[in-house]
Amino acid sequence: MSSPATTSVPEATDPSPDEVPAILVDGASYVYPTGDVVALREVTLRIGHGEIVGLVGQNGSGKTTLTKLFNGLLKPTGGRVVVNGIETRNESVQELARHVGYVFQNPNHQLFARTVQEELEFGPRNLGLTDDEIAERVADAVEFFDLSGELGTHPYRLSFPLRKLVGIASIYAMRPPVLVLDEPSTGQDHRTTGVINTLLRRLAELGTTVVCVSHDMPLLADVVERVVVMRDAQVIADASPRAVFADEDLMKRTNLHAPQATQIGLRTVARDGGVVPLTPDEVASAVAERRGGGGPGRATPDRGRNPTATPSTSG
Ligand SMILES: Nc1ncnc2c1ncn2[C@@H]1O[C@H](COP(=O)(O)OP(=O)(O)O)[C@@H](O)[C@H]1O
Ligand SMILES: [Mg+2]
Repeated sequence: MSSPATTSVPEATDPSPDEVPAILVDGASYVYPTGDVVALREVTLRIGHGEIVGLVGQNGSGKTTLTKLFNGLLKPTGGRVVVNGIETRNESVQELARHVGYVFQNPNHQLFARTVQEELEFGPRNLGLTDDEIAERVADAVEFFDLSGELGTHPYRLSFPLRKLVGIASIYAMRPPVLVLDEPSTGQDHRTTGVINTLLRRLAELGTTVVCVSHDMPLLADVVERVVVMRDAQVIADASPRAVFADEDLMKRTNLHAPQATQIGLRTVARDGGVVPLTPDEVASAVAERRGGGGPGRATPDRGRNPTATPSTSG
């Protein structure tokens, strides 16, 4: 096969195994001084640049603690955490904020400005951007999150879902290379959940590395490429969403519920070795394919993920 003489897009270089990852958690432990709670026990995790990772596990399993190690809000009490090649132990939270944007689970722990506009300007200004650049970042965030009607509003006067969106928007405006979202869709309504789904897709396009802590399995099934599962202060699984959600024993042990489409699929279209579906669309396509019609959609949509079973068609 001959390759085209010119391409408009530069070719991606293969990541070498020794390349500096976006996040390296190397045998990290964390013990909260209050009550001697061991929240993380020798966790090792490597996240490459541009990966979109879901982090799941029961309440209290250590998800928030782990993500707070990424931006230095907490420093490991054992082992080390290295972000973009920088060991967090030696760096201030302010310096690390250039590398890792962190959206708190509770926006009340994050927002402090008197207006939405000021809130959105704060991060970009702190990065030392010019007034024009700040205005551009804010305008883009306002448009993306549809906040134009709220710029003069005090964040605490907003509904919870909107306040949470402002928290996300204010970090998004900083364009951090790594973005951590702690339970972004908790307490959200239908519209704002849709915005968060779109946001994760936009971040993937921008090449942002994303870690999304969530109990919202359908959201993760729809947008992430990798799911890391925590239980009792440790990472106990790390695989594609298809592999994780199809593992019924793992779901039971962690008290998590796979997306309904996956649960239905395991009992129907995937029972005899077909691809385990992640979304209602995938169930519908698989059913249509069984009927022999092929259906309107793709037979085995996979978005480049590793299915747990071999696709029955080559696409
Ligand atoms: N500030 C704190 N002081 C003491 N213990 C804490 C604190 N924050 C969390 N913990 C404990 O650490 C463990 C992990 O909590 P956390 O990281 O918040 O889990 P998750 O985000 O998965 O719900 C839990 O046992 C929790 O009670
Ligand atoms: Mg948490």
